[in-house]
Amino acid sequence: MNVPPRPSARPLVVAHRGASDEEPEHTLRAYRKAFDHGADGVECDVRLTADHHLVCVHDRRVERTSNGAGVVSTLELARLEELDWASWKRGPGETETPEADPERGHLLTLRRLLDTLVATGEEVVTLIETKHPTRHGDDVEKTLVQVLRHFDLDRGDQPGRPHVRVMSFSARALQRVHKLSPAVPLVHLVEGIVPAMAIDGTLPKGIGAVGLDVRLVRRKPQVVERFRRHGHRVYVWTVDEERDMDLCCDLGVDVVITNRPGVAIDRMGVT
Ligand code: G3P
Ligand code: CA
Repeated sequence: MNVPPRPSARPLVVAHRGASDEEPEHTLRAYRKAFDHGADGVECDVRLTADHHLVCVHDRRVERTSNGAGVVSTLELARLEELDWASWKRGPGETETPEADPERGHLLTLRRLLDTLVATGEEVVTLIETKHPTRHGDDVEKTLVQVLRHFDLDRGDQPGRPHVRVMSFSARALQRVHKLSPAVPLVHLVEGIVPAMAIDGTLPKGIGAVGLDVRLVRRKPQVVERFRRHGHRVYVWTVDEERDMDLCCDLGVDVVITNRPGVAIDRMGVT
C-alpha cells in the first residue's frame, strides 16, 4: 500500500471503514482506495468472534455486509472467512467471487489490517473502535492489547509506524485499555445531545481526545473550543458533506473521519 506524505495545514483525513462510499466497507480494497486518495489514516470497528479473534465488522450481525447470516460473536473465524463480504456491493451482472478478488471480498481481521499498515512503514493514523465491549467482560480489551503488543504498537507513537488510537463510546472500556496499556492514546466517542462532558470540555482521566458527532458540532460548534481549551484533541465523525468539511476546517478540528476521503482532501486541500 502506498501512503502519501503527511499534510499539515488542515485536519487529518481518516477514512471511515476505508473509502466506504466506493468500496465494500472494512475490506482491504476500501483501505487501499483510501490511501490512493491521499487519506492520512483509516478507521475500523472491531468485534470478537466466538473463538476470540478480532474482526473488522461494524454491525452485530453479518447480514447487511455479507452473504451470510448470524451474530458475529456467535460465529467462528473460519465460518466468517467463508462469506462474501463484497456481495452487497455487487451489481446484478457481476459474477466475481471472493476468491477471484480477495481484497474486495474477504473478511479483514484486525491482525491482517495492522500487518498491512505496518508494512507501509508510514505513520498512518489508525483508529480502532471497539464495538459493544461491555457485552464480553474485558475480553475485547485484553485481546486488542495482545494484538497491539504483537505488532509493537502499544508503546505510543513511533517513527515510521502506524499511530494507533483506540476509540469507544464506553468510557469504562477505554479505562480498561488504559489500565492494560497506558501508552495507547484513547478517543472518547460521543453522540446525540450535548453530553455533560461537552459542557465544560473535560474528559475522564487517561483519555486525551474526544470524537464528536458532526451533528453535535453543527448545532453547538463552541464545544470544539471547550475541549481544545483543556488540551484535548478533537476528532469529528462522520464528515461526508462539503459544508461539514468547511466547518471542521474553520473550527480547526484535529481529525475528520469520513466515508469520502477523496472528496475531503479535494475540499480541504492537500497541504
Ligand atoms: O468514527 C466514529 C464512528 O465510526 C462511530 O459511529 O456507527 O460509524 O461506528 P459508527
Ligand atoms: Ca466506527
